[in-house]
Amino acid sequence: MAILVCGGAGYIGSHCVYDLIENGEKVIVVDNLQTGHINAIHKEAIFYQGDIKEINFLNTVFSKHEIEAVIHFAANSLVGESMIDPLKYYNNNVHGTEILLKAMAINNTKKIVFSSSAAVYGETKTFPIKESDTTEPTNPYGETKLAMEKMMKWADIAYGIKYVALRYFNVAGAHPRGLIGEDHNPETHLIPLILQVPLNKREKIFIYGDDYPTRDGTCIRDYIHVKDLINGHILALEYLRKDNESNIFNLGNGLGFSVKEIIEAAEYVTGFSINKEFTARRHGDPAILVSSSQKAKEILGWEPQYTDIRDIISSAWKFHKNNVDGFKK
Ligand code: UFG
Repeated sequence: MAILVCGGAGYIGSHCVYDLIENGEKVIVVDNLQTGHINAIHKEAIFYQGDIKEINFLNTVFSKHEIEAVIHFAANSLVGESMIDPLKYYNNNVHGTEILLKAMAINNTKKIVFSSSAAVYGETKTFPIKESDTTEPTNPYGETKLAMEKMMKWADIAYGIKYVALRYFNVAGAHPRGLIGEDHNPETHLIPLILQVPLNKREKIFIYGDDYPTRDGTCIRDYIHVKDLINGHILALEYLRKDNESNIFNLGNGLGFSVKEIIEAAEYVTGFSINKEFTARRHGDPAILVSSSQKAKEILGWEPQYTDIRDIISSAWKFHKNNVDGFKK
């Protein structure tokens, strides 16, 4: 039986495909290549280019393979963009998930591991954030991820599709051997943007806001290495294979770093002094997002290996230095 990875050409999905294949799984990748890269797909995966919003396309893929479980990464994921074009997020994320679940119900696939986000929480008052905390997203992206989680809950009740929703904090870093990494166009994420400065691809980094209620006025985030994050997916798949009930887990390091601290760590790793300039806040950004991943540790047996921010930045630096222009395709 095979694992279907939707969005397997994207940053996080491609890392998952590599690990699944290294674990001996048969992997089918579906991706519309809207943001993904064909060169990021592992050569041993079977690839279908198409959109999860097309039921006929999905039914064809399901009819060609015996699919045991789906791992679903196919979504738009930019907080800033979602504030400007919320309907794109409802269409791609919510409607896309609706059609994917429909295809699963029709084709009798009953397990799904799904990328949710810390963006579902919004401005929380207590830290670290637990799965049971209030979910009040401050942006349409987080709102669509919450809607996708709720859709899964009802699909479980109605069709018996068991899900694990993984609420990611800030994913960063690259394959430890530098084989694949993060390549967005346009890039909006803090760490790859900072690394563009020493690579002479950008003159300076803009810091969005210096008046947040944090220790140095800049936003605090919880950065998790993509390899640790994917290990969470592999464990979630095992959890579903043991016929456990649907569940929701945070995946983060539990450590918060401010934007300024990330820049300092990048200066240490790269050995370059990084030009910076303060500018206005970015709409939709909560001040602090720091996780408690205690539940994933206790129930899934998950334990992050890359807890030092310098190691995370260092793996990203290795990829970017060797692939200055990204994947090209
Ligand atoms: N930032 C800057 N300058 C930049 C880019 C980012 O100051 O040029 C700041 C942002 O304001 C934010 C922090 O750096 O405070 C991190 O920003 P990112 O864009 O790298 O990441 P986000 O926190 O906005 O969002 C990321 C993912 C989401 C996920 C979220 C969960 O993109 O999908 O982490 O914490 F939901």
